[in-house]
Amino acid sequence: MSYIVSRLSVVKPSASMAASQAAKALRAKGVDVIDLGLGEPDFPTPLHIIDAAHFAAKAGQTLYTAAAGTVEVREAIAGKFRRENGLDYAADDIVVANGAKQIIFNALMATLETGDEAILPAPYFVSYPEMVKLLGGTPVVVECPETSGFRITPALLEKAITPRTKWLFLNMPGNPSGAVYSESDLKALGAVLAKHPQVLILSDEIYEHILFDGREFVSFGKACPELKDRTLIVNGVSKSYAMTGWRVGYAAGPAPLVKAMSTIQSQSCTSVCSIAQAATVAALNGPQDEVARFRQAFQSRRNLVVGGIRKIDGLTLPAPEGAFYAYIGCASLIGRKTPKGVVLEDDAAVSNYLLSEGRVASVPGVAYGLSPYFRISTATSEETLTEAIARINAAVAQVE
Ligand SMILES: Cc1ncc(COP(=O)(O)O)c(C=O)c1O
Repeated sequence: MSYIVSRLSVVKPSASMAASQAAKALRAKGVDVIDLGLGEPDFPTPLHIIDAAHFAAKAGQTLYTAAAGTVEVREAIAGKFRRENGLDYAADDIVVANGAKQIIFNALMATLETGDEAILPAPYFVSYPEMVKLLGGTPVVVECPETSGFRITPALLEKAITPRTKWLFLNMPGNPSGAVYSESDLKALGAVLAKHPQVLILSDEIYEHILFDGREFVSFGKACPELKDRTLIVNGVSKSYAMTGWRVGYAAGPAPLVKAMSTIQSQSCTSVCSIAQAATVAALNGPQDEVARFRQAFQSRRNLVVGGIRKIDGLTLPAPEGAFYAYIGCASLIGRKTPKGVVLEDDAAVSNYLLSEGRVASVPGVAYGLSPYFRISTATSEETLTEAIARINAAVAQVE
């Protein structure tokens, strides 16, 4: 008999990490694979942030901190919400965790009773359904097709809500689609949510700074202030400041929820690394020019990938509005044969084929709840992306 808890039997390991591991395994065998599986900025953390961490460590900021985060970091976050999002939160309404992932985990752990439902507009971030299941909840996947811009509509939302709905997850710009919601989109969703007071809203805004074509970011909190007492705004420094390995995420929300999340944290990890918190203060309060530079680089890579993929017969790609992924449609490859005679039954088969024959690691759409697509990360150099597109093109051209 297994001693592993049964609820883990329905939880899958991260699909993007699995894609990366498959690429690494091939590389270990000497195959030259381009890994576009995992999504993290390829830039080094800006130097002034590293200097602040160095200084903090030397100055003795090396002890446990308050579970919710230091006063300094929570004030810096409150300042960020005011300045960048027009949101008014006190330091006590804010909690810091080891990445936005842990924030989401803590929020779900604090709120989900067995069988509670979380509405996940698909395509979704791979970790959402797995965390919901792990904590006893039921993911309610709402497919949001390309024709609606990969966005959930008020009608789809209304249809998905039941008396057991505990959460609606929103993610903008979205991973993997890059979809962004306008203020009026959000207000229209807010009007539906106003009728269902049992629903909490988790707005994952971690890609807010990676936004293209001059778009302005509007936080869910700004669009729907009347829902403030049941909205959790999730963010972090991983993507905006090229700080994935520092593991700092944060959230602002209603005091009882933030307090519960911080209690969970105090009994699980005590606090986030004190030095990483000091670095976060420098990231949020310091110069922001690197953030703009990263955005420009991501924009030009997005343009390159959209141009390149659209030239490939058999693939489609609506231009991502933000984030650093391309969610590539491969419907016309399904049912066709590879040169080795393997039928491409689904997007997992397409992704496998691109890895084995094209030597490019991607993640199949099935992992994000909307098929047939595959995701590539565009957070790598233009040179690598150009080579990857050439390889994908060559592999797709051989499908009969
Ligand atoms: C939508 C989304 N939310 C959260 C995260 C996790 O961020 P963090 O590094 O802060 O845990 C990711 C990372 O890929 C993501 O894509």
